[in-house]
Amino acid sequence: MKLEARKVRSSLRQNFLVFALFMAILAPRNDAKCDFKAIFNFGDSNSDTGGFWAAFPAERPPNGMTYFKKPAGRATDGRLIIDFLAQALGLPFLSPYLQSIGSDYRHGANFATLASTVRLPHTSLFVTGVSPFSLAIQLNQMKQFKAKVDELHSSGKANLPPPNIFGKSLYTFYIGQNDFTGSLASLGINGVKQFLPEVVSQIASTIKEIYALGGRTFLVLNLAPIGCYPAFLVELPHSVSDIDSFGCMISYNRAVADYNSMLKEALRETRKDIPDANVIYADIHSVMLELFQHPSSHGMKYGTKACCGYGGGAYNFNPQVFCGNTKLINGHNLTATACSDPHNYVSWDGIHATEAANKLVADAMINGSYFDPPFSLHKFCDIQPIG
Ligand SMILES: *[C@@H]1O[C@H](CO)[C@@H](O)[C@H](O)[C@H]1NC(C)=O
Ligand SMILES: *[C@@H]1O[C@H](CO)[C@@H](O)[C@H](O)[C@H]1NC(C)=O
Repeated sequence: MKLEARKVRSSLRQNFLVFALFMAILAPRNDAKCDFKAIFNFGDSNSDTGGFWAAFPAERPPNGMTYFKKPAGRATDGRLIIDFLAQALGLPFLSPYLQSIGSDYRHGANFATLASTVRLPHTSLFVTGVSPFSLAIQLNQMKQFKAKVDELHSSGKANLPPPNIFGKSLYTFYIGQNDFTGSLASLGINGVKQFLPEVVSQIASTIKEIYALGGRTFLVLNLAPIGCYPAFLVELPHSVSDIDSFGCMISYNRAVADYNSMLKEALRETRKDIPDANVIYADIHSVMLELFQHPSSHGMKYGTKACCGYGGGAYNFNPQVFCGNTKLINGHNLTATACSDPHNYVSWDGIHATEAANKLVADAMINGSYFDPPFSLHKFCDIQPIG
């Protein structure tokens, strides 16, 4: 009897050891490390995760249809580049700074809002509506955020990061598109070019201000080829001879390339002023251009045609009825609806990229091949899959 009991105990212990070993092998790897504990993002609709619609609640389906299955504060069918980046670093999606309910800022904050510009909105220059949350305002919000973290840290506020987070954060900038496109129709390319140096110098000076707050790693996304965007192909004046073999407008894309060179150069200069910081230029333009030019090489079908819009045709974009909206036109209620296969499109609504395109851009960026200077996120982080 005694012997039996010992045998049972010993076999139990053995089973336990085998079980423990088994569990150790199967257990999810929670030893993933990442030097970036937070992301602070500055931008416009291309990286807004809900700020604009928190301030001005009016978002409609089909935004969010692919991933969130409902409107999720993003002007696309699913995730944005910034969402994929957060996932890759093992961080949660960024809470909008302007969203007071349900937000968690322990891993950063998102200051981006739809229609934001770098320069303070000079109303006379802008034809269309511009968000009041320009880059200068977003920087003020960042400063306020840091001041509050410093002030409250001993009170243990649960949804704020520790005060030493700012040196261990990634600061991302994806802004400037609205400065560029907002006055193209009224001022033309040459008119817009007059103030583009001011746009890049303001991005550079914002980086230096955040450096002074403790920031050390800055990722600046360049401007996408807006000459391939369905909305601008419909709205901006151009001649037939201005269309290249991929269906994009040559003149506007050339102006984008000039802007990007200027931005790249401004960041190179900025690096000299803050040599112990990483100031990285992310060439998402190249990736987007490749998608617009060769969608079928990347599992897609349509480059310059929007998924969500009204009117069909080559661009499926009608400036009178934006994605998700209904307008009474010539006595008919017209609704801009989504296609059933957004994964086949680069453009979601004529201006914003689909989740599928955003994922391809994020993939390419995370792989590091589009950074100047070369920068490997893998060296700082165990990159998580972003499926
Ligand atoms: C258009 O929609 C509005 C709001 O739903 C409705 O009141 C109106 O009668 C509709 N008009 C037509 C012509 O269908
Ligand atoms: C990035 O790397 C992943 C994993 O190695 C690979 O599957 C993907 O195709 C790469 N993407 C690009 C754009 O190079």
